[in-house]
Amino acid sequence: MDFSYTEEQLLIQKTAREFALDHLAPCVINRDEKAEFPAEQIKMMGELGFMGMMIPEKWGGAEIDTIGYCIALEEINAVDASAGVIMSVNNSLVCQLLYTYANDNQKEKYLKKLASGEWLGAFSLSEPQSGSDASNMLAVAKKDNDHYIINGTKNWVSSGISCDAVIVFVMTEKGIGHKGISAFIVEKGTPGFSHGKKENKLGIRGSDTCELYFEECKVSAENLIGEEGNGFKIALGTLDGGRIGIATQALGIARAALDRSIEYANERKQFGKTISSFGAIQDKIATMATNVDASRLLIHRAAKLKDEGKPYKKEAAMAKVFASQTAMQNATDCVQIFGGYGYMQEYGVERLMRDAKITQIYEGTSEIQQLIIARTLLGNK
Ligand code: CAA
Repeated sequence: MDFSYTEEQLLIQKTAREFALDHLAPCVINRDEKAEFPAEQIKMMGELGFMGMMIPEKWGGAEIDTIGYCIALEEINAVDASAGVIMSVNNSLVCQLLYTYANDNQKEKYLKKLASGEWLGAFSLSEPQSGSDASNMLAVAKKDNDHYIINGTKNWVSSGISCDAVIVFVMTEKGIGHKGISAFIVEKGTPGFSHGKKENKLGIRGSDTCELYFEECKVSAENLIGEEGNGFKIALGTLDGGRIGIATQALGIARAALDRSIEYANERKQFGKTISSFGAIQDKIATMATNVDASRLLIHRAAKLKDEGKPYKKEAAMAKVFASQTAMQNATDCVQIFGGYGYMQEYGVERLMRDAKITQIYEGTSEIQQLIIARTLLGNK
């Protein structure tokens, strides 16, 4: 087992780190305060190949493996978790879904634009009454010759306002549970497709989150992804990969909290000494660093299994639940180490605490990750 990065991985890390410091860091506090979408930076990330990293060049991507993607994603999230979630959703949920399940015509029409960063994508599964119980959805699509008519409301859609196309999961047959769910790709501007207000969130405020409304929305049957009735398996299969992305987002936040804590603890003096000389601070830093490394190892194990085409559902869930817990704990400890300064916006560490929380919630709560791990181990659905 080799834990060192290859030349290519080191280059990806350097490129992502420099981009994040040069283009995301300067206004990140301002964007967070104003809840401003980093549109210009996301375009640049597309030009760098960061928006479709795991997609073959033939379909507009950068053709890099999942570990390479995680290395870049960690760097982006260590500086700006809002840009990080936009990158993660486009890569893990949208491009990866299309690459795995779409036909060549759909790949030609949509994947090329989404993987190259020309377009931005969103993924829409949840509804007001169905979050963790994702198959309990009400949105429907009724076949009408060579079209489907979609009706329903979806919510908590990341990039729902800024996206150019969304992958939406709806019922094509009611009364048969998850076997009645199908996946469609719907372009922005399609009549009957609109979005709600930008949600005012605790964290990742630079990313936009909204409800989506489908009212007699007519979509070509060519936009059905995979087979009718296969949508739930497409969603869950895709979310396994998505969870590696969100685990990596959590890792980026956790590492930023560690780095900021070390820097501050070595500068801040109390009782005539730097606070890094106190055992209470050393304990925190040691635990933070250990959990950052453990998170990265769990993430890279899941990524490697994915690249090898082996089952990785349990490993992705373990990575997400552990890394998101680490992000929350490290961010909280970082604010604690900064003391009163940590509570002030201008030091930029209270944002880490606010951004960390969502990693325990979206793409499957920590409780759902535990359920997935337990079910896999115990063999009982
Ligand atoms: N891959 C493929 N298929 C899978 C699968 C997977 N990982 N997990 C289960 N399935 C299949 C099962 O085999 C089963 O098929 P059969 O009936 O043919 O055997 C079918 O899917 C249903 O499986 P379950 O009975 O296990 O389904 P369930 O209703 O008990 O739900 C769950 C399982 C794990 C709780 C699932 O509903 C879940 O993951 N919930 C969380 C939802 C979620 O993550 N939402 C995220 C929203 S998107 C988002 O957050 C994006 C963002 O903004 C950043």
